[in-house]
Amino acid sequence: MTRFGIGTDIESVSRFADLVERNDPLIQRVFTSGEIRYSLASQRPAERFAARFAGKEAVVKALYDLGIIGVAIPAVEVLKRPDGAPFVRVIGLPADRVQVRISLSHTREWAIAYALAIDDAET
Ligand SMILES: CC(C)(COP(=O)(O)OP(=O)(O)OC[C@H]1O[C@@H](n2cnc3c(N)ncnc32)[C@H](O)[C@@H]1OP(=O)(O)O)[C@@H](O)C(=O)NCCC(=O)NCCS
Repeated sequence: MTRFGIGTDIESVSRFADLVERNDPLIQRVFTSGEIRYSLASQRPAERFAARFAGKEAVVKALYDLGIIGVAIPAVEVLKRPDGAPFVRVIGLPADRVQVRISLSHTREWAIAYALAIDDAET
């Protein structure tokens, strides 16, 4: 039976602009080196950080909806396909069984994410 979990999150970009400006250690604790590199290379890094954080939270909610609890925010990594579409890797999750899909959008003020978790268990 296939089961689905959904999750969403919205984040204020200004919150992340403050963290970037202060070079807050929270950035290193929450984001992977790849996420930090991608975000800082952007013309508006705070938007990218906010979108990735929203993506992580949305994924945690989607997994929770499937009954998978205790996944920490830093364990969720938002990566990019060559066409620009985001995808996620969740450390500790059996990738052959649980698939996670996300979609991100951001403006100068807000970042939003949706996540879908799909559990393809046989039983
Ligand atoms: C994908 C697309 C719809 C994004 O729309 P947008 O309004 O510019 O941007 P949004 O703020 O809503 O979303 C940005 C996020 O969309 C996601 N995204 C980018 N390309 C994507 C794609 N091909 N499929 C799904 N999601 C995509 C990314 O996560 C991006 O955020 P990130 O760069 O921080 O990871 C738009 O770029 C598009 O139509 N691309 C395909 C056609 C194309 O390449 N056109 C180039 C200009 S002619």
